[in-house]
Amino acid sequence: MQDRFIPVASPLEQYQRHRAPIIDAIGKVLESGRYILGEEVSLFEREFADFLEIKHCIGVANGTEAVSLALKSCGVKPGDEVITVSHTAVATVAAIELIGAVPVFADIDPLTRCMDPGLVQSLITSKTRAVLPVHMYGQPAPMKDICDIARMNGLRIVEDCAQACGAEMSGRKTGTFGDAAAFSFYPTKNLGAIGDGGAVVTNDPAVSEEVRALREYGWRQRYISAEPGMNSRLDEVQAAILRVKLPFLREDNLRRRQIAQRYSRAVDGDFITPPRNVPGTEHAMHLYVVECKDRASLQPFLEDRKIGTALHYPKPVHLQEAYLQRIRGSQRLPETERLYERIVSLPLYPELSEPDTERICEALSLWCSSR
Ligand SMILES: Cc1ncc(COP(=O)(O)O)c(C=O)c1O
Repeated sequence: MQDRFIPVASPLEQYQRHRAPIIDAIGKVLESGRYILGEEVSLFEREFADFLEIKHCIGVANGTEAVSLALKSCGVKPGDEVITVSHTAVATVAAIELIGAVPVFADIDPLTRCMDPGLVQSLITSKTRAVLPVHMYGQPAPMKDICDIARMNGLRIVEDCAQACGAEMSGRKTGTFGDAAAFSFYPTKNLGAIGDGGAVVTNDPAVSEEVRALREYGWRQRYISAEPGMNSRLDEVQAAILRVKLPFLREDNLRRRQIAQRYSRAVDGDFITPPRNVPGTEHAMHLYVVECKDRASLQPFLEDRKIGTALHYPKPVHLQEAYLQRIRGSQRLPETERLYERIVSLPLYPELSEPDTERICEALSLWCSSR
């Protein structure tokens, strides 16, 4: 039998696994006649907040707007600087500029591949208003040190948790360390909708109320805008789908970590460096990203064996045309620039079968031993 092509992510297989309850849940929404901000959104907001052990969750339209709304609700205004990383999805940076704020880049730490807290202090100016660490690939950023620096300097902290749904640090979920956090439910995420979706979470009732108002035209009372807002509501159908999947998130993340451990055992440290274990953290393994000195050979080798690979991301944000030479901090990102030329993402999703996992491990071992 011909081997099937193994994709890097497979939202289709996840849908197929939960097909009956998803179709049921969608049917229930259709029959309810309530299609915007109904019971499913309210229940999902409560259940997701309980999962994270945080007080407030506000469903919004996508992860990008979740970042924007979290920043804005924490008081970030046009012209304010927000310190973040260039080694991230472009969405993080787009979200800062969407509200007229100004991104500033800090380099990453090679161990976590997240913001290096030791580099933040020197980037702070009188215009700095917030820090925006990204829990990249599902690895928690070093929140204790980041929070210490931010608090010492009177800065707000917003966590970009788009890739780290269910990750933990010192027994606490990512998203519960800062003043607010943003989640994405893009279909390939650890908790994925079947369309766009996002959420802001916070323990601060004032931030929560502000996000709730801003996501719907600045309304504090129906049809009456207390301030200018927008439309960024989580869709009722998507909320219903997320409620079907949320109870499986914990075991799905465990399965992701088990597959990741198998890959890490299969690769030879000389040619492929697996993601490193960071003590005290529980990786959400959204993406399994190795470093490889010779990815020009590894990628086609795996593709020939019908194993998909991807680059997250092919270029850091500061080297992309839209941002080139205009973001402060871009001149001093040696680790970001070293890493992006070596990264390769391998297939990782909870529905990946045992034979497919084995096939990937064998291919990795074979490539390493042929060096
Ligand atoms: C780190 C990061 N931040 C923000 C986002 C934006 O999420 P969305 O695609 O839901 O707008 C994503 C996802 O693409 C992401 O990976």
